[in-house]
Amino acid sequence: MKVLVCGGAGYIGSNMTELLSRHGHSPVVFDNLSKGHRAAVQKAEFVQGDFGDFDFTIEVLKKHKIEAVMHFAAFIEVGESVDQPLRYYDNNVSKTRTLLAAMEAAGVQKFVFSSTAAVYGMPDQIPITEDTTKCPINPYGETKWAVERMCHFQSQTGRLRYAVLRYFNACGAGFNATRGEDHKPESHLIPLIIQAAMGKRDNIKIFGSDYPTPDGTCVRDYIHVEDLAKAHLLALARLDSEAQQVYNLGNGKGYTVRQVIDCVRKVSGKEFKVVEVGRRPGDPPVLTADASKARNILGWKTDYPELEKIVESAWTFHTANPNGYND
Ligand SMILES: NC(=O)c1ccc[n+]([C@@H]2O[C@H](COP(=O)([O-])OP(=O)(O)OC[C@H]3O[C@@H](n4cnc5c(N)ncnc54)[C@H](O)[C@@H]3O)[C@@H](O)[C@H]2O)c1
Repeated sequence: MKVLVCGGAGYIGSNMTELLSRHGHSPVVFDNLSKGHRAAVQKAEFVQGDFGDFDFTIEVLKKHKIEAVMHFAAFIEVGESVDQPLRYYDNNVSKTRTLLAAMEAAGVQKFVFSSTAAVYGMPDQIPITEDTTKCPINPYGETKWAVERMCHFQSQTGRLRYAVLRYFNACGAGFNATRGEDHKPESHLIPLIIQAAMGKRDNIKIFGSDYPTPDGTCVRDYIHVEDLAKAHLLALARLDSEAQQVYNLGNGKGYTVRQVIDCVRKVSGKEFKVVEVGRRPGDPPVLTADASKARNILGWKTDYPELEKIVESAWTFHTANPNGYND
């Protein structure tokens, strides 16, 4: 299938592109490189551009005879979204509306969308199922929820078939650790701890150590990026028979911040400074997924459920690429 991978030069999209190629699909990466890396795209055609450009997006869809769109492109920083909500609504919501309109105009119906556990806000039940109340507490989560609703209503017209995949904490490096995280600025826990282990930052901060969790630090559900990508392939295949799909993607097992720090120490063999500071507003104590729906309906299985394997892959990528993709 010819698949347009919007945001395919980014962390998760580049792993997806690799998996699509390996499975005999023909991915075309569409990215404006505002955050992504040209060097992360190796086995796919690359189109530099912005999916907010209606005419250009139609041209790309038609020229490449695109049959499905996977949409990874977004701004993803929670703190930045609080400071600049309009920028997030523009890139994540308005431009996605333009992308869906271009798909409609070009007659492309299949759409797989990267959503997030942030749509649940401070959930009232753990583990979180797809039916848990959606109540985002920041503009980032709200923009993702707005796109989910837009997909829902557009599909009611019969002109869109979509799968929404709500990721928990994406992590690790895929494909023998060749495709890793290189966000600038970096805000994700595992690469930040690895930076401390590599001596690239003075310390790693723990935000809050008095939560009602086994060691007082927040518990999160870490899911390897290659496992995430596999779920997209399964959801894409199922769009033929089911036009509206929503799945949580996580391992269902949580790890505390301290456990992740200890794991990086073990894998790297390095010591580094850990500083405990106060809680950050809006950090729920525990976020873990009930992903039984994806397992039961899609037949999704994870290959990297253990934190140590995830951290090993990330450590290998970061030590082999100390300056990231170098672009
Ligand atoms: N990383 C995580 O832990 C995580 C968790 C939950 C959900 N998600 C979602 O997964 C998706 C991918 O996340 P990521 O970590 O790979 O992010 P990323 O920043 O690495 O990749 C996003 C890519 O989109 C591109 N992009 C952004 N706006 C664009 C535009 N207007 N036109 C064209 N390209 C544009 C960027 O250049 C970048 O290459 C995002 O939608 C994010 O909300 C990520």
